[in-house]
Amino acid sequence: MKKTNLAVALLILGSSISFAQTTRKPMGQLINDEFKFAAEQYKILAKNIPEGKTPQSFEKGKSINYDIKWWCSGFYSGSLWYIYEQTKDQNIKKEAEAALKVIEPNQSYTGNHDLGFMMYCSFGNAYRLTGKAEYKAVIQRSAESLATRYRPVVKSIQSWNKSKMWECPVIIDNMMNLEMMNWASDNGGDKKYKEIAVTHANTTLKNHFRPDFSSFHVVDYNPQTGEVIKKATWQGAANCSAWARGQGWALYGYTMMYRFTKDENYLKQAKGIANFILNHPNLPADKIPFWDFDAQGIPFAKRDASAGALIASALLELSQYTSGSEKTTFKSAAETIIYSLSGSAYHAKLGENGGFLLMHSTGAYPLNSEIDVPLIYADYYYLEALARYKKWYL
Ligand code: GLY
Repeated sequence: MKKTNLAVALLILGSSISFAQTTRKPMGQLINDEFKFAAEQYKILAKNIPEGKTPQSFEKGKSINYDIKWWCSGFYSGSLWYIYEQTKDQNIKKEAEAALKVIEPNQSYTGNHDLGFMMYCSFGNAYRLTGKAEYKAVIQRSAESLATRYRPVVKSIQSWNKSKMWECPVIIDNMMNLEMMNWASDNGGDKKYKEIAVTHANTTLKNHFRPDFSSFHVVDYNPQTGEVIKKATWQGAANCSAWARGQGWALYGYTMMYRFTKDENYLKQAKGIANFILNHPNLPADKIPFWDFDAQGIPFAKRDASAGALIASALLELSQYTSGSEKTTFKSAAETIIYSLSGSAYHAKLGENGGFLLMHSTGAYPLNSEIDVPLIYADYYYLEALARYKKWYL
């Protein structure tokens, strides 16, 4: 190892040691402080959003806002609803309601598979907290839109449209959209939504995973026969690598499928994925993954705070369905992630970071897009993890 590399490696090791030794705030106090901070920080974020857009990131001193059809459009209102739930701040509630109005037209959008992210993280939380029938109707309409992308021959919801690269691609991220489908059926909607969710989850379980429980990113199917054409990646380091956020989507997805079905296969899968992540030799001491578990240049590769936040939230749910040492392992790994993300290495100061809470996420490294930046969904899953910890463990 070159002298400079050795010095940096020692620095990283040193910061892991000081990370472990840092005196921690009690979790209850940390969570309350975090939600109070988030209410103030998001009032700053709110000022940076042009009309009709939704916030995505902050890069080189500029706020990045996207069109409502972008897969992340529901995370802003979802985050606001989590903040409102904990703080009862009426200005945050008003902003959450306004953010819903912006994305409401998405309910009839059928251009991709992201309707669950867009409409359940947002309207799902809004309905949970207000019980308003109009919000429920939007979720039901969105489930119907997403159902149009179900391909019975492939036994999956098609993620992206056919292109030069793909025939009928299904990405591991798509597991997340099943939450809306399950919920819609269980709450007065057509039973077919849940059937689609279960069939999709079973197909993904069969074709997306390797024997070590790591997941491919994309499986491309022949839409005429349902046969697998290829297993590949889009946002990962290589077709055979374990893209960090993809492992997080898989963990969250199968844990959530167990919640709705109580099918033990899903629980077994979720535990296998959790153990793959937590026992991986490339998972750093602070448990915030590198953007890909097989990224080139580890330990100098970029981290992905969004993967960390998502994994923390999923592990907290998984800990609810386990007992003994398994439960302790999952819960304490989630605690480590929360403490890491709330520390100065990842957490923004008030007024900085464009109003986002967390720094150091990676959107799509191979596409040279959103590298080492704040991302709205990192904030969303961080807030969800905090809320879940409070609900289940305090
Ligand atoms: N669903 C896209 C991503 O995780 O980046």
